[in-house]
Amino acid sequence: MEPTIKLRPDQIEAYHTNGFLTIDAITTPEELALLREKYDQMFARAVGREEGNWFDLAGTNEEGKEVVMPQVLDPERYVPEFKNTLMRANADAIAKQLLGPEATGSGAHCIYKPPKISPETPWHQDEAYWDPAYEYCTLSIWVPLQPATVEMGCMWFVPGTHRWDVLPHRHINNDPRIHGLELVDFEKYTKVAIACPLPAGGATIHHPRTLHYAGPNRSDTPRRAYILGGQLPRKKRAVPLRYPWLEEEDSLVTRTKRELAETGKGAETVAARESK
Ligand code: NI
Repeated sequence: MEPTIKLRPDQIEAYHTNGFLTIDAITTPEELALLREKYDQMFARAVGREEGNWFDLAGTNEEGKEVVMPQVLDPERYVPEFKNTLMRANADAIAKQLLGPEATGSGAHCIYKPPKISPETPWHQDEAYWDPAYEYCTLSIWVPLQPATVEMGCMWFVPGTHRWDVLPHRHINNDPRIHGLELVDFEKYTKVAIACPLPAGGATIHHPRTLHYAGPNRSDTPRRAYILGGQLPRKKRAVPLRYPWLEEEDSLVTRTKRELAETGKGAETVAARESK
């Protein structure tokens, strides 16, 4: 499919200055209606659980516990209609415009916030989730499939923080069984935070180090977010960093990944990219 988005020079400059950008439309209303239908079916089926690609991002994933923020990694693998969309074509075009012509699309994930019960996504930097042996040149494109208001849990960003190092993180509630991360002492860094409410099918674009947050869903409507990536190849660091929060993680994701590796059953199928 041919992309329809060409960012203006002032938008490109704003992205590089602030570490994030908001656009009004990345797809059409017709495609959006189809995406929404398939998205709801996907979450109703809890696809990808065996591969470690479905889990509660904000929970411990124990039997019988209410799931408050389910996430699906690599949704295109489970839902054929998510391939070859205008949304994906535009996301890839945006990645080339912001990262350079060699940039390619990278893995998608979906974070669903059920009405009323879904908590905030705490302040974090996406790169805090990734192997610190590498340097990254990526971006994330966050698309709500219905309007995203402040009450429903739209995205918030702190401008200029994409120039910072990765700050100390820990698992939500300081519980290594929970995959989701939170920035330690976030109050110190988030005094100038900007909310980015969006129409359905709009998008925010952010750098992997930009501090960001999404509020709880206090509304009566599900908050469906579809997140696409763009990247240049990662590079091995001369001197690797260490992220203690990744070393201590004991979540459903890491346990499934370990089991698949030990049994030799397609460890490569577990997506390495998570939780943008
Ligand atoms: Ni994130």
